Amino acid sequence: MITPVILSGGSGTRLWPLSRKAYPKQFVQLIGEETLFQASARRVDSPEFGPPVIITNSDFRFIVKDQIAAISVEAETILIEPEARNTAPAVLAAALQKLRTDPDSILLVAPSDHVVPDMAAFRAAVQAGLSAVHEGRLVTFGITPTYPETGYGYLELATPPEGETAPVALTRFVEKPDAQRAAEMLATGRYLWNSGIFLFRAADIVAAFRQHTPEMVSQVEAALDQAQSDIGFLRLAPEPWAGISDISIDHAVMEKADNLSVVPFGAGWSDLGGWDAVWREGVHDAQGVQLSGQATAIDCSDVLLRADTENMVVVGIGLKDIIAVAMNDAVLVAHKSRAQDVKLAVDALKKQG
Ligand code: GDD
Ligand code: MG
Repeated sequence: MITPVILSGGSGTRLWPLSRKAYPKQFVQLIGEETLFQASARRVDSPEFGPPVIITNSDFRFIVKDQIAAISVEAETILIEPEARNTAPAVLAAALQKLRTDPDSILLVAPSDHVVPDMAAFRAAVQAGLSAVHEGRLVTFGITPTYPETGYGYLELATPPEGETAPVALTRFVEKPDAQRAAEMLATGRYLWNSGIFLFRAADIVAAFRQHTPEMVSQVEAALDQAQSDIGFLRLAPEPWAGISDISIDHAVMEKADNLSVVPFGAGWSDLGGWDAVWREGVHDAQGVQLSGQATAIDCSDVLLRADTENMVVVGIGLKDIIAVAMNDAVLVAHKSRAQDVKLAVDALKKQG
């Protein structure tokens, strides 16, 4: 039985104004009926998986509880971080906590900000990774890169993949390279993108943390020793947690580990890293028009028009390549090619207070 660990404590700014600090992108409805977090939980709601461990920030605990209840998923544990410390401490806390009751447990670490449309292919890839996990490997899932993205991790394959999903050893993991390095890696044809999904034995990932960041292991152990149960949540203790470094698992462990393997995953994946990706992944008509809420398009093509609040009507006339998102307190209108710059707008707004 594999225990899913769903990471849901991040904040995404490139999908402003829908994604907010208090209500980040994993919890809002971007594509289809479910939120990305709900879709992540449902992806692992099948017999080969046990109930999920969900780890999130204190601010999001009730959102998490409501959203899993709405899809009839029951968590094994909802672990609460007093403050966000990025994914390394989050994964370590889940692994150490799981080890306390099950020394043989296998974890599937799943982000909650992704779209993976083919659930069956995803589950098959996870099964394919198990052979490597049983050899003590830390398994990643790799996506064929299509452009030199600097926001992802890159996985260098030791040998070309044999068949669709068989695990391949990695020689290198490079997290978020600069633009030049990303272009160089893409050109070699030997790299895949890191999907951010990991499969390993809890004992093996804890061993890797012990080797590469031993201090974090004692700090997270202390936060667990003093953790408090509270109406369905397990709250990590604030004091030991406060001293923990803010670092991702990719930087803290994956870039340093020498026992990584990858299962190539070709069945479709997107981390919806901006409104352009939401447009690409969502349903649109033959003219490329994607509408949400009370939105109407007249003579438009390749547009995303969203009315994300009640009592709001959005109308586009004669537009091409435009994104418009209207909320009751903010409206975004942007050219689709500039979707990534929404982050700059959010930074500017923050400075204005
Ligand atoms: N519990 C918890 N606590 N979850 C967190 C925290 C935290 O402090 N910070 C982030 N998360 C969650 C996010 O909500 C998301 O679901 C997941 O962990 C990954 O974090 P991101 O912050 O979105 O990471 P990233 O997108 O910059 O990079 C990762 O994903 C890429 C693919 O999308 C890396 O693994 C890259 O290597 C990878 O290519
Ligand atoms: Mg992400």
